[in-house]
Amino acid sequence: MDPITPSGPGTQLLHLSPAGLNPNCTSLPEAAVSDREGRMSCRNVLITGCSSGIGLALAVHLARDELRRFRVVATMRDLGRRGELETRAGTALGHTLEIRQLDVDCEESVRRCVEAIPQQRVDVLVSNAGRGLVGPLELQSVEAARRLLDTNVLGLLRLVRQVLPDMKRRRSGHVVVMSSVLGLQGLLFNDLYCASKFAVEGFCESLALQALKFGVHISLIEPGPVATEFERKLYEEAATLDLSGLDPETRELFQGFYLPYSREVFAALAQSPAEVAEHTARVITSESPPFRSQTNSLYAPLATLKHADTSGHLPLAAFQRLIFQHDRLFKASLSLLKLLQWRKRRDMDHTKTP
Ligand SMILES: NC(=O)c1ccc[n+]([C@@H]2O[C@H](COP(=O)([O-])OP(=O)(O)OC[C@H]3O[C@@H](n4cnc5c(N)ncnc54)[C@H](OP(=O)(O)O)[C@@H]3O)[C@@H](O)[C@H]2O)c1
Repeated sequence: MDPITPSGPGTQLLHLSPAGLNPNCTSLPEAAVSDREGRMSCRNVLITGCSSGIGLALAVHLARDELRRFRVVATMRDLGRRGELETRAGTALGHTLEIRQLDVDCEESVRRCVEAIPQQRVDVLVSNAGRGLVGPLELQSVEAARRLLDTNVLGLLRLVRQVLPDMKRRRSGHVVVMSSVLGLQGLLFNDLYCASKFAVEGFCESLALQALKFGVHISLIEPGPVATEFERKLYEEAATLDLSGLDPETRELFQGFYLPYSREVFAALAQSPAEVAEHTARVITSESPPFRSQTNSLYAPLATLKHADTSGHLPLAAFQRLIFQHDRLFKASLSLLKLLQWRKRRDMDHTKTP
């Protein structure tokens, strides 16, 4: 089995490769040791968007690594929201994890944060901060689209521009980017969000060609639905949309069909942030990190279909049928998957209980 296997009902998680404890990774102020020779050296990991969700889970997962392979610089735009991270980090706080302010919308904030890191050395950048946008295109303002692209696309650009020159100089480094399955496949009423994630994918595909020449890896992580604040924020925003000016068919499609469909998909298929963090950690610790990986095995056929038919007809038709024409079958499958997910989590909880 591939070492970076997506998780999902019926799939097994693989464990991190064994190695000894790392004595170089005990406190944050020390400069990182060179990792040119071996994987044992302690790596500085900068993560954006750690106030909640996947970023928070990943920061905690890496900072509490039993082998102490990481010093985590967990960043967020509003330090007032650091309470949950501090609590969950526990004793790692101030040792293998520090919290800093970073707003990916602001170049100066990105620069200040990186410059405050000893020797400005970032071995692993995790570009995770992101926002969503959902709803009929007719109701989205150009300003809202600009804000979305500023965070999801230009945010990545600002981060990469800040850390890549040093990675190239050292001929080592890893840029890990939280993309989405919606960076591979469009979804109705997610036009702008998909555009932002497709842009991220194109940016990374281009950059990877150059980066590899310098020994720098780029990895796209493509989660399906994940149970985080992301979903709550989307529905809250959707509830504020004034649908009255829409034609009745589009209004019904959004309100009567898409919103309930989306809730059902999240309820049945969503992974936990911890599962995505675990997958991302495996990518980070891989000897040969994959360029692209999906965290949820249920979405792998989407990527396969896309590459199987370059005309685009097959994936579009299959996805459209899945959404619109097989409603009953689709709902039955979701219920079954929900049950399988629930049983899998229950079994995992039981194995954790001493
Ligand atoms: N949840 C999903 O279903 C899903 C699926 C696929 C991909 N993703 C991607 O996963 C990533 C993390 O999302 P999540 O699910 O963990 O959602 P989340 O809980 O809403 O977390 C998003 C994080 O990004 C931060 N953020 C937003 N704008 C920022 C900015 N300008 N500068 C710095 N931080 C900013 C948020 O900070 P504030 O607390 O200050 O807002 C928050 O910490 C995103 O890139 C998202 O597109 C999510």
